[in-house]
Amino acid sequence: MSARDPVAFDRDHIWHPYTSMADPLPAYLVESAQGGRIRLADGRELVDGMASWWCAIHGYSHPVLDQAIRDQLERMTHVMFGGITHPPAIGLAERLIEMTPAPLQHVFFSDSGSVSVEVAIKMVIQYWFAAGRPRKSRLLTIRGGYHGDTFGAMAVCDPVNGMHEQFRPVLPEHLFAPRPESRFGEPASRTDLDAFESVIRDHHEELAAVVLEPIVQGAGGMWFYSADFLRHVAALCAELDVLLVLDEIATGFGRTGELFACEHAGVVPDVMCLGKALTGGTVSLAATLASGRVARGISADGGVLMHGPTFMANPLATAAACASIDLLQDGPWRDRVHALESQLQGELEPLSTHPEVRDVRVLGAIGVVQTRSPVPVAALQRHFVDEGVWIRPFGDLVYLMPPYATPPADVTRLTRAIASGLDVLGRTAPGP
Ligand SMILES: Cc1ncc(COP(=O)(O)O)c(C=O)c1O
Repeated sequence: MSARDPVAFDRDHIWHPYTSMADPLPAYLVESAQGGRIRLADGRELVDGMASWWCAIHGYSHPVLDQAIRDQLERMTHVMFGGITHPPAIGLAERLIEMTPAPLQHVFFSDSGSVSVEVAIKMVIQYWFAAGRPRKSRLLTIRGGYHGDTFGAMAVCDPVNGMHEQFRPVLPEHLFAPRPESRFGEPASRTDLDAFESVIRDHHEELAAVVLEPIVQGAGGMWFYSADFLRHVAALCAELDVLLVLDEIATGFGRTGELFACEHAGVVPDVMCLGKALTGGTVSLAATLASGRVARGISADGGVLMHGPTFMANPLATAAACASIDLLQDGPWRDRVHALESQLQGELEPLSTHPEVRDVRVLGAIGVVQTRSPVPVAALQRHFVDEGVWIRPFGDLVYLMPPYATPPADVTRLTRAIASGLDVLGRTAPGP
């Protein structure tokens, strides 16, 4: 690093997610990250409450994951996947097929969650095209969803709060049912079911698939909805011959208390998207899994799946993913996630009476405090860093999704920082 003031250089030249070049939010210079701690360049150590946006489920610099990457580094960092295959890709596909619902038998590797959603959309469109029903090319989803920032994925994000409103004129027009108001743990309300059912019944002839985040809507609002609703959606898809795509990019690998969130509803998709925690947060990788029916359909009459990224199935990433899955499955992840759930419930739920708070909800290793109005991100962020924690709020949501092995004392530091942060809100005007 040659810049004399690296943070100033960063501010002037580097875009961060969803930031302005004219008036960027401050970025903190990180020197290293280890376990559940992030170390800033100024020496401060922060308890990590974010697992780097759902990814770092084992914490940072885990010796097993680092060793797997080092071992792979000795063999090859990358090799093309056209006409070539390699052990980490094969090992990872075996593991994914084994751990996901039985019908999912075919794996497409890509580099990011958004791209895995693009691939899922291609799969379902190609499936119906090959079946001689090209009119079935639209998608149905529910409001409040988030599936990524590429164009196909943006088109199924919430059209208002999905951060992509300005692209609406160039996005394909898909169909949106209301977000289910029935919460996780409740039966689905008649209103929620009727609203979804009327859209799918009216449009099934033109629908390729329903695309959903199962149970937890993440970046579109951190909302946990009824498993019963998801069961009804799956039943309607089966009845009306509409494929079901479940985006488990945020929820996969144990975060909600089940290995995959669809297990809360006992629902099996035709296509599943995975990413984020797939490599334990070490290297970017995603996967789209398809059922035998979908794969055979696409491949009928010599058809091929029309996608092929340069860094597909990167050996470093697939080796890291194999190690991460083994680490997860060999360890007490379920007990850890349940312990986090109990502690987050015990420490966050009392905040629901705070005047700044609209709602508190906890599921698995996810704790959400929703405020009455959007939070001033920079001021709150500064407060959290001063308190020695890393929490990144957005909109009206202050939330935690720590690494699974976060010790109880660190969880308490996170929840206490949120509690004191709510008092900061009372004193600060809302802003970006
Ligand atoms: C449910 C869901 N789908 C897709 C994505 C996009 O993944 P990526 O940011 O890796 O492109 C995200 C990212 O937050 C997500 O939460």
